[in-house]
Amino acid sequence: MKQKHLIAPSLLAADFLHLADACQLINESEADWFHLDVMDGKFVPNISFGMPIISAVKKACTKPLDVHLMIVEPEKYITAFREAGADVITVHYEACPHLHRTIQQIKDTGAKAGVALNPHTSVDLLDNVLEDVDLVCLMSVNPGFGGQKFIYQTLNKIRKLQEKIITRNLSTIIEIDGGVGLQNAEAILQAGARVLVAGSSVFKAEQPLDAISRLKAIGKDTLFA
Ligand code: DX5
Ligand code: ZN
Repeated sequence: MKQKHLIAPSLLAADFLHLADACQLINESEADWFHLDVMDGKFVPNISFGMPIISAVKKACTKPLDVHLMIVEPEKYITAFREAGADVITVHYEACPHLHRTIQQIKDTGAKAGVALNPHTSVDLLDNVLEDVDLVCLMSVNPGFGGQKFIYQTLNKIRKLQEKIITRNLSTIIEIDGGVGLQNAEAILQAGARVLVAGSSVFKAEQPLDAISRLKAIGKDTLFA
C-alpha cells in the first residue's frame, strides 16, 4: 500500500497581521506540516522573514515546521533555524558548494535534511547525495514569490527522481513547491510526489480548512486504496 501524501500549507500566503490565526488554522486542519519560506533578497529576488517569526510560530503551532531556506550560505544559519524550531530544514542545491557537508550539518542538529532544486536544475545532480537526504523539494515555480503558475515540466522531474529512489530502494521523499492546487495535485501525486506545499490555494481560498481537506482527500479511494 502506498503511504498517504502530506499537505504543507505555506505561511507566505497568510495574513501576517494574524499569524496566531494562521497557526490555529493549521493546528485544527488536516495539514501535516507548516511550510515556512525564508528569503534573503540575494538567492531570490525577495525578502520574507527569518528566525523570530519561526520561533513565534513554533510556540503556537503543533505541526512540524518545514523550513525552506532560499538563502545564500545557508550553512551559517542551520543551528539558528533548528533552535528557532525547524523540524525539516531544506537548503537549495544551487546555494551549496559543499552540499554533502551542509546535509550532514542539518542532520547533526537532529532535523530532517532536505535539498531543493530550482526548475532548471536536473535531478541527476543529486545522484551522489540521494542516500543522505530525507527529502528532495522540486521547485515547480522559480522561487521567490507565492501565487505563480505551476511549471508542468516538473512532472517529468518527479517521475525521473522517483524512479531513482525506487531503484535504489531509498526512503527519500519528494516534495513539490509552487503553484500547487486541486487542479494539478492528483497528477503530481501520481508522478510520485509525497508532500504538497500549497500557499495561495490554501490561504487565498474562501475556506482554507476545506481547501486543505480537499487536497488531503485526493486519491483517497483510488491511489491509496
Ligand atoms: C516560492 C515558495 C513557495 C510558495 C508557494 O518561492 O517557496 O513555498 O510559498 O506558494 P504558492 O503555493 O502560492 O505557489
Ligand atoms: Zn517554499
